[in-house]
This record gives sequence, C-alpha cells and structure tokens, in this order.
Amino acid sequence: MNMNIALVPGDGIGPEIVEQAVRVLDKVADQFGHKVTYTNLLAGGCAIDATGKPLPEETLEKAKAADSVLLGAVGGPKWEHLDGIRPEQALLGLRAGLGLYANLRPALLYQELKFACPLKPEIIGDHLDIMIVRELTGGIYFGDSGREGDSAYDTERYSKAEVERVLKVAVKIAQGRKKKLTIVDKANVLESSRLWREVAAEVLEGSGLDVNYMYVDNATMQLVRNPQQFDVIVTSNMFGDIISDEASMLTGSIGMLPSASLGDGKKGMYEPIHGSAPDIAGKGIANPLATILSVAMMLRHSFELEKEARAIETAVQKTLQDGFRTADLVENAEMKAVSTKEMGDAVLARL
Ligand code: IPM
Ligand code: MG
Repeated sequence: MNMNIALVPGDGIGPEIVEQAVRVLDKVADQFGHKVTYTNLLAGGCAIDATGKPLPEETLEKAKAADSVLLGAVGGPKWEHLDGIRPEQALLGLRAGLGLYANLRPALLYQELKFACPLKPEIIGDHLDIMIVRELTGGIYFGDSGREGDSAYDTERYSKAEVERVLKVAVKIAQGRKKKLTIVDKANVLESSRLWREVAAEVLEGSGLDVNYMYVDNATMQLVRNPQQFDVIVTSNMFGDIISDEASMLTGSIGMLPSASLGDGKKGMYEPIHGSAPDIAGKGIANPLATILSVAMMLRHSFELEKEARAIETAVQKTLQDGFRTADLVENAEMKAVSTKEMGDAVLARL
C-alpha cells in the first residue's frame, strides 16, 4: 500500500516525538511491504513565526491532499499574548477544515504503569480500557460567540445531522467492543442535550447495545468512583474535552495516550493527547509512546492495516515490560530514565 502522510510536528516537544513515530512507521512499512511518503507542514506557533498565521492555507490544502495527518503538538508560552491569534486555532482549523467530527480518545491502563494510577487498586481493578468518542467540530467551540457591551457569550448549537453522524461512529465502535455505550449530556438543563437524546433514540434502535444516559456532572464523579462501569462514552465537544482529560489521568500517564480524529472518509488526523510540554522541549527526554501509538491508530482506522497496528502496540507493550521508561514514567529513584530516542530505539528493536 502507498501511504501519503502529512506530518505536522508543531511546537515544543512535537518535532522530537514525531521523529520517533516516523522511524516506527518507516520500519513497519518496510516489514509489511508498504511505501510511505511524507509532506512536512507548518501549524501552530512555528507557523505564526514563519507566516503570521497559525494555520497557513498551504498547510490545510496539503493536509487535505494527504491520505492522513500525523500531528505532534501545538502551542507554548511564546505565543500566548498575541492579539487574537493563538496556535490552538491551527488544531481547530484542521479538525473543521478536514471534516474530522469524531474524536476517539482511548484511556487504557498499562499493567506496567498501574502504580501511576491515582485511584486505589481495588477501584481501578485489573484492567481499565475506556473509549471516549468526542464530537469535534460542533457545539460551543464552534458556535456563535462575541461581546456585547460588558457581556460575552458562546453558543452551544447542534444540528440533528451533526449528532447523528458522531453517534453512528460511537455505535460502530461499541459494537466492536463490549457492546456498552454511555451517552453523556446535561439533558436536565440544556435543550441541545435533549436533542442528543432524541437523535440517540433513533440511531440506537436495533443497535443491540446496552445503552445508558448520564448527566455530565454525575459522569465525572462516576469516572473516579467506579470507572469499570464504562466501556464506550459518547458526548459533545466541550464535555468530551473535559472528561477525556479526567479519564486520561486514570491511566496515570498522559504521555501514553494516542487519539484519532475521523470524518466520513478514510482520512484522519492522529495525535498524542498531551500538549507541547514547552518546559522539556529540546531536551530529548519527552515520551514518544503516545505519538507512536497514534501511528498504530492511523494504520488501523485510515488504512485498515490491523496487523501492522497490532505490531506497533505489541512492541510498545514489550518495551514497557522490558523496563524502558522515559522520565514521566519513572516509578522510583532506582529506575533510570531513557531518552526520547532510546525509547524509539527500544520500540524499533521489538517490532
Ligand atoms: C484538546 C485540546 C484542544 C481542545 C485545545 C488545545 C483547543 O484541549 O485537544 O483536548 O480543546 O480540543
Ligand atoms: Mg483538551
């Protein structure tokens, strides 16, 4: 297979972690007889520096032309005080511009990293594997907003079609897992949530899923009280933003979690869920595993290369089993942390 990948390394640790992910992709492609070509694109703070815009037209055009996008991270203190321009606009612009309305955020606890989970062992149980499906191109992050006199407003607005398409993605994913779906909303207060429930009733008819509805305030509490009750969660843009951060912390290691943003076609954008970590940028100590695991999600969701995806996930698992830890994963003072590149080497050696 030929894969034409747009690389958006971005800011901070972005370039370092993307470099390791590319080495892994190259090796898997080589092993399984695929050909990968890359186009490097600017987005975020580095794009502001180079062009004055967080998302230059050329970046969006070339990302549209690629089969898939691999992104590192954007943003940093250097670009926080610019008037009306923020690096994060690049992310929102890519998601919307590429029509990537469904964001898959798995929260998976690795056995080797159980010590990092902040919950008591009896609460977390043997295994934690939750998939959050976040609506990504609608709702309050994209609604009408502005200022009027001394007030400010943002608008939560969803159309039936927007709700329907993300629910369909969640249903498909839940059917391939434990057949359990939780719809998180605030239907006791918000009209838009009541629309979500109406649409859900139609979409879920005959799905064969065990479905439950949960208010978002309760859901945040249930996630720490009894995370085992969840398998797939689907929710709006803002609620998904919030609860995916909460769920990621249950795994204790934000440096481990990948994500996929999908639309109607095969094209997706894949990125670690962590940020650009400006405090450790350029030191060669960042954890590249979330980005490497994002490559696995890319192979699975954009190219239907399940075996190749598994090969990466297994290599990452073995790397952890063999005791390799970047600084963020170090359990105690006796453990020696490896560098970003050494972690990449270790995964490559186990592929
Ligand atoms: C995320 C981030 C972004 C979001 C920000 C940086 C715009 O928090 O991907 O979760 O809110 O979607
Ligand atoms: Mg977020």
